Amino acid sequence: EECLEIEQLPDEVLLNIFSYLNPQDLCRSAQVCRNWNKLAFHGSFWKNLYPVQWAKGHWDYHLGDYVEEEEEEENVMGFLMVKRLDEDADIDESEGIEERQEDSWAYQVRQESQILTDMIKYLVPRVGSFVRTCNFAYSKGLSNGILYRIFSLCPNMEYLDLTQTRITDLAFKGLEQRKGGCKLHHLDLSGCLYITDRTLKRLAYSYGVTNPKSGHSEVSDSERQYDSKSQQHQPVVELSEERTNDFHDKFEYWKSEKLQKQWDEIDSLDTKHPIVPGNKLLDNVTALELCVTNHVDGPLSHCSSVVTRSESADKISVKQKEIDIENCVPNAVISEKMPINAKEEQDTHFHLEDRASLPGKTVRNFSSDAGFHLNWTSLPAGVGPDTARYIHCQGLSSRMVQDILKNLPSCDMVNNSTSGRHVGRKCCCDIERTTRCHTKPMCDALKKTNNEREPRTEYGSQTVPQRLDPGQPCDCSLEFLSLSGCFQITDEGLRSLSGRGGLPYLVHLDLSGCMKITGGGLDEFVSRCIMLGPENLFYCDNILDGPYLDSANGCQNLQCTSRVCCRSGE
Ligand code: FES
Repeated sequence: EECLEIEQLPDEVLLNIFSYLNPQDLCRSAQVCRNWNKLAFHGSFWKNLYPVQWAKGHWDYHLGDYVEEEEEEENVMGFLMVKRLDEDADIDESEGIEERQEDSWAYQVRQESQILTDMIKYLVPRVGSFVRTCNFAYSKGLSNGILYRIFSLCPNMEYLDLTQTRITDLAFKGLEQRKGGCKLHHLDLSGCLYITDRTLKRLAYSYGVTNPKSGHSEVSDSERQYDSKSQQHQPVVELSEERTNDFHDKFEYWKSEKLQKQWDEIDSLDTKHPIVPGNKLLDNVTALELCVTNHVDGPLSHCSSVVTRSESADKISVKQKEIDIENCVPNAVISEKMPINAKEEQDTHFHLEDRASLPGKTVRNFSSDAGFHLNWTSLPAGVGPDTARYIHCQGLSSRMVQDILKNLPSCDMVNNSTSGRHVGRKCCCDIERTTRCHTKPMCDALKKTNNEREPRTEYGSQTVPQRLDPGQPCDCSLEFLSLSGCFQITDEGLRSLSGRGGLPYLVHLDLSGCMKITGGGLDEFVSRCIMLGPENLFYCDNILDGPYLDSANGCQNLQCTSRVCCRSGE
């Protein structure tokens, strides 16, 4: 009788009840009847897959902590490497321990293999299109075949952690053939010893950066046009298309989890003084967002000087005027995070002024679809956003540089000095070369609305995973890439990711232990990653001519026994 009552419950109620179950219980529930089977495999329950933790009996959904706790003791590769290195150890003393470790290791491999096989066979074919996160870190049972199937069946996967696994380039054939990883935001290949340039080429192809056969960057028509014209310093940015939906898309992007924490910090600030120049709580990116949000400030607020296109014009110093928040933005309240329609917002201006040499009159107003308005004051007639060709600024984030390039049609070089003596992009030519590439892929990606990126499915309509058309352009949305310990990676692999503007969203790059990379190759790649700052860049300490030499981070594998490093043992 009780069973009948449960069966009479509407599906919505059952789904709500099922939402409290862990994966193991869901699988058991799926064996009760057909209806329960359908509901238990509803895609909303299977967005995050943690097979490694499930094999250990941790059936909770949010298990990131467990991985970190146990990573050093239980990873296979570390165990094998230590075993190999410790050839001189006293065998009698360690024999018992090693036997127990091997037993435990074999048991875990069996458990994981079983769960992974079942997952690929019964679960992923039904829910693959809903899967967003796959965490295989430190997996002992993951094989190339399984990962290939994951790429094929999970076209919307955004997060993939393969830390310290035995996968090889073969597994990434799925990227090339199915484009399954074209929506990846986070890819962690730390400690994957068998990964070579071929994987990077496949990744590049998945993002639409390169041709799979040639492995070389495809240069679009407009790029060729730019290359030929760059000698004559012609503007190459076509703004009309790029500005479409710009603001809306940025809004969607900023709503992402990554920035939520920063927004929380901003919320806690004094609402009367939302922007405090130099406030330690706000980093550059957040400050820019805040500026755009409230129309307080423009991307040029930190510019220290502007050089115009006119050959005769001298360098004009522009000093930042102190912002009077209350006067400039009477209605700007920090809690109004992002206006939906920028045009309905108040017109608020921020002034750049050169008090020393020029009269304080407004020459030209500058506005962008991104929602901020900027007054150019104190500049002589003819000098303004339409004519500025070089911009010298200091301490701007990559995002700000990108905004400048996008909104100033005539500007083809931004010299962004990150400190008083060190120029962020080492050579002006690098910036000139990457200017066009900064904007095109970014704007192509931004044109796609959030809905287009994440097709939604109505309740109950469990679908066969979508196979993406290999010819369909992909978002270059990779934000996190770790190749720590992938010592076989070379400049060629990085170069394959540099085509068509490289990876415009990349904010974290770890190349610790990549000993075959040279400073020149790294510099070229990093110059294409416009959002990558030195604080999130890691590479070998022995590269003495790499990018951000003074401010980038060094190798992270110096003290690590399980990852490759050219200085291990020193
Ligand atoms: Fe060179 Fe670690 S790889 S210092």
